[in-house]
Amino acid sequence: MYTEHDKQFARYTITSALPYANGPVHIGHLAGVYVPADIYARYLRANGEDVLFIGGSDEHGVPITIKARKEGCTPQDIVDRYHNIIKDSFKELGVSFDIYSRTSSAGHHELAADYFKKLYEEGKFIEKTSQQYYDEEAKTFLADRYITGTCPHCGNERAYGDQCEACGTTLNATDLINPKSALSGNPPVLKETKHWYLPLDQDEPWLRDWILEQHKGDWKTNVYGQCKSWIDAGLQPRAVTRDLDWGVKVPVEGADGKVLYVWFDAPIGYISFTKQHTPDWEKWWKQKDTKLVHFIGKDNIVFHCIIFPAMLHAEGSYILPDNVPANEFLNLEGDKISTSRNWAVWLHEYLVDFPGKQDVLRYTLCSNAPETKDNDFTWKDFQLKNNSELVAILGNFVNRTLVLTHKFYEGHVPAMGELTDLERQTIEEMKTFPERIGRSIETYRFREALSEMMNLARLGNKYLTETEPWKLIKTDATRAATVLNLSLQICANLAILAEPFLPFSAEKMRKMLNLSASGWTTAGSSELLKEGDLINQPELLFEKIEDAAIEGQIQKLADKKKQNELNAWAPAAVKPIVEFDDFGKVDIRVGTVLECTKVPKADKLLQFKIEDSMGTRTIVSGIAKYYPEPEKLVGQQVCFIANFAPRKLKGIESQGMILSAEDKDGRLVLITPSQLVTPGCSIG
Ligand code: 2FM
Ligand code: ZN
Repeated sequence: MYTEHDKQFARYTITSALPYANGPVHIGHLAGVYVPADIYARYLRANGEDVLFIGGSDEHGVPITIKARKEGCTPQDIVDRYHNIIKDSFKELGVSFDIYSRTSSAGHHELAADYFKKLYEEGKFIEKTSQQYYDEEAKTFLADRYITGTCPHCGNERAYGDQCEACGTTLNATDLINPKSALSGNPPVLKETKHWYLPLDQDEPWLRDWILEQHKGDWKTNVYGQCKSWIDAGLQPRAVTRDLDWGVKVPVEGADGKVLYVWFDAPIGYISFTKQHTPDWEKWWKQKDTKLVHFIGKDNIVFHCIIFPAMLHAEGSYILPDNVPANEFLNLEGDKISTSRNWAVWLHEYLVDFPGKQDVLRYTLCSNAPETKDNDFTWKDFQLKNNSELVAILGNFVNRTLVLTHKFYEGHVPAMGELTDLERQTIEEMKTFPERIGRSIETYRFREALSEMMNLARLGNKYLTETEPWKLIKTDATRAATVLNLSLQICANLAILAEPFLPFSAEKMRKMLNLSASGWTTAGSSELLKEGDLINQPELLFEKIEDAAIEGQIQKLADKKKQNELNAWAPAAVKPIVEFDDFGKVDIRVGTVLECTKVPKADKLLQFKIEDSMGTRTIVSGIAKYYPEPEKLVGQQVCFIANFAPRKLKGIESQGMILSAEDKDGRLVLITPSQLVTPGCSIG
């Protein structure tokens, strides 16, 4: 079944990007990396292949130390918290890692340090000193993320030393205008420091040949294109150490206070985790008949296609990836997913909100995976995919078949009688599915593979609808038996072929059918179930998701959006300076509310009658939304502009303006004196 290319491999090492342990995983991670990687691993295992599927948490890097500082705890506390959340939620989603480890583990530190040391001793690095920002008060060099300042491109005053999040420009810390240390708030000073660099410029010739020639037409166009533009732009030496105290210590003399750059140590995690998993680890990394595949998102392409291969090549005994099927990004309801803005559907929350519906999420994310372009996840689409595809097509077919088998044959597989052309065609078509689905998976087209699997369920539904066994049972019992036998065979095939995509439902189907056959190569057969075999009582594979559940999720997102707006609030810029004389022209007074009522046919307006010791005055104010019981304002004191030019609002003459503060959520709050004062007295 395999392509000629794949036939040369005896085993598969499948890696999935190590998520940073500074937050839980979200649907973007799943659609981009873990769902496709898991489908691939499960499919290969179903084919009897030797597979090692590796995952783990990436526990180093500056964002983790920043979070720890903010929360007043240690980086280890942070990674312990998220590593466990991530690991448990992957398990619950059925991501079938052979090992899920972490880069703070001792085994990882040891292997990553040894790796560096070997390259160091073999003279594979260049040493360079350069000027970097240093915080004199905190007595430490500052990672780019620890420096903030004004972006030279867009003027954003909160740009980081590596990137301006307002305009997206990649920056060097020295580009920032008015740089400030995030530790002390002081301007940092430039100070000399030594680091080790991987001379990527020297790798250019073989990288060019290996990627741009040997993998032309083989790697996905988005991956190939990104590699080409990096290589064409000219590769530069890249620092692989940092002045930090959280990470793998640089294991050479004269490197106190330095750790390996997180992007140097993290991919070595794939190897160190393999070593933690099995003493026989080297075959997964060093034998030429091992196929190494990295599943990642598009922001990781350069690290997995250029930098990590350059590290593997420099070491000399490791294989290189055969493919890096990176995906584009998944957006959420039209907006970029963001951990810092909490704009995400978090896996651990989904699992609580939709218990037992792991396969629905797997299905939705695979069918909408951003394989060739960014895609959008919407809750409405999630509901539609569940109700109109999983329930209406797959669930419905399996359920109808099993219910009829129980109704007519007390749960026993009926005999397959003489075949008509329709059966022959249906069987012929059914036989083609294992290969069609398999070919799509082998070429990393998971959406297509999933839709092929659903086509088999569609074929089953069509067959049942055309043959109508519920009618045949009265007119032609032999044929009704044939139809149900074949329908059951289609169900059995679905139980095998759906497994990589929908492992929980496939397991349910397998149990309902008492199916013993397993393995991809057994699929395609119309004899998976034998006449007389007993089928268990059917249970529903999928349930309809009601509008209320979806509206709840949409509301949750709306709340997040609101919260983000509040978090982004900053006081308005101060207006130009005014002289005392100008201020003195505005006559601000205190008055007591005598009456306050809603203005008819004007949602926003309240009409006040104010006592100001000069008589009474009417003022109309647009604060009705914030004071739904205006009568309660009677007796309160308010501040108002007494010499504001009168104007008509809804036919009422307003003789002044009542003062209120606008809070960050847009609420208007009346300004009142802190003690009762004589109505009409001036404010100044
Ligand atoms: O982008 C990320 O989330 C990184 N933590 C991925 C690391 S992948 C590997 F190289 F470790
Ligand atoms: Zn900017």
